[in-house]
Amino acid sequence: MFLCRMVFQLALIFIIVTFTFGNKISIAPSIPEITHFVNDSHIVFCKSNLRTNWRAPNGFIVGSTDQRIHVEDKGAQLALVFEKISLNDKGKWTCETDGGEYKESFVLIVNKRISFPEEDKLQSAPEGMDKIIKCRPEGDPTPIISKWERNGKKMKFPHPKFLQVSNGILIKNITKDDGGEYICRAFQVSETVSDIRQLNIQLKV
Ligand SMILES: *[C@@H]1O[C@H](CO)[C@@H](O)[C@H](O)[C@H]1NC(C)=O
Ligand SMILES: *[C@@H]1O[C@H](CO)[C@@H](O)[C@H](O)[C@H]1NC(C)=O
Repeated sequence: MFLCRMVFQLALIFIIVTFTFGNKISIAPSIPEITHFVNDSHIVFCKSNLRTNWRAPNGFIVGSTDQRIHVEDKGAQLALVFEKISLNDKGKWTCETDGGEYKESFVLIVNKRISFPEEDKLQSAPEGMDKIIKCRPEGDPTPIISKWERNGKKMKFPHPKFLQVSNGILIKNITKDDGGEYICRAFQVSETVSDIRQLNIQLKV
């Protein structure tokens, strides 16, 4: 009875040890999904006793000579190095042993922070005309304009004079009084990122 139990326990330990240390390949960090912004850097290690390769989302094997994304051989580990992440790096990156018998992957999600065209900071309009005060946030996930301020006060819509349009605010029949500082605020949100940024606009009439 005692012997039987000991054999059972030994078998259990053997199974646990096999599952824990018997993996032919592993990656670190071992997070299945990693989120970064454009221009970030990142490194992932692939550990195995066998020869390994890193495969890009498009199926190509990553080489050691490329600048932006390359592999570095660290003995028992093959590092995948992103010097500067770009939007088209998104997708599934896989480390696999020669012949592809064992593999581990992670998904890279790439976001682009909200930015505004530089030229939109200073805008001008002639008196008496209709004019759109432009606010054109860029980014990924796509930014959404959430709020406008005019000379320090929140703008309310609908408004008899200011009409909210997709790329800004349309002012009808501009007068000198319409000049001043406008603030356009935009946010972006997804499962992995959320950010708010604003553009201060000077409108000269
Ligand atoms: C990334 O860096 C380059 C310069 O190295 C810069 O021109 C570009 O605006 C940056 N992009 C973002 C989204 O930060
Ligand atoms: C534009 O505004 C000026 C000054 O407030 C006014 O005299 C003029 O009639 C307006 N024009 C139109 C087309 O509404």
